[in-house]
Amino acid sequence: MSNKQIIHNEHQMMDFGGQIAEKFPQGGMVFLNGDLGAGKTTLVRGLLRSLEYQGIVKSPTYTLVEPYQINDRMIYHFDLYRLADPEELEYIGGREYWNSDALCLVEWPEKAEGFLPEPDLIINIHYQDTAREIIIEDLIGIKNKEL
Ligand SMILES: Nc1ncnc2c1ncn2[C@@H]1O[C@H](COP(=O)(O)OP(=O)(O)OP(=O)(O)O)[C@@H](O)[C@H]1O
Ligand SMILES: [Mg+2]
Repeated sequence: MSNKQIIHNEHQMMDFGGQIAEKFPQGGMVFLNGDLGAGKTTLVRGLLRSLEYQGIVKSPTYTLVEPYQINDRMIYHFDLYRLADPEELEYIGGREYWNSDALCLVEWPEKAEGFLPEPDLIINIHYQDTAREIIIEDLIGIKNKEL
């Protein structure tokens, strides 16, 4: 997977989500950075569709987290835009989500800076008119080196 990609439309963003799913056959922590409407939720929708999840995928703006059980694995989609205080994450049991072997996808991780564990992958989405430029920071290798 190239570290820099141009995504021309919503369809390509969904496909890109599928590539992220392939990168994480098990658990992981993925940060999704990008302005409002950049395509973070669209990416998550594509990821879940690629795993054959057929239901509705909408951003958990008020509930902060939406769990998805697909076959025997768990995927948690966080949208922390409305997080007023990072401690709220403790109340919703955040730690139990990421200490499991689930795949966690986090929109607006900067709202919980210091409370989230180190990510395995950071996806930065930048507007380029109707397209999006994606810059990927792959930290899995770095993490393994530390072990
Ligand atoms: N190149 C593109 N990639 C992704 N989405 C695109 C693209 N061009 C247009 N769109 C549209 O932009 C919107 C992206 O919305 P989405 O909810 O995924 O954004 P978001 O980053 O999750 O925003 P928020 O921070 O508000 O949750 C969709 O309506 C999608 O159709
Ligand atoms: Mg969103």
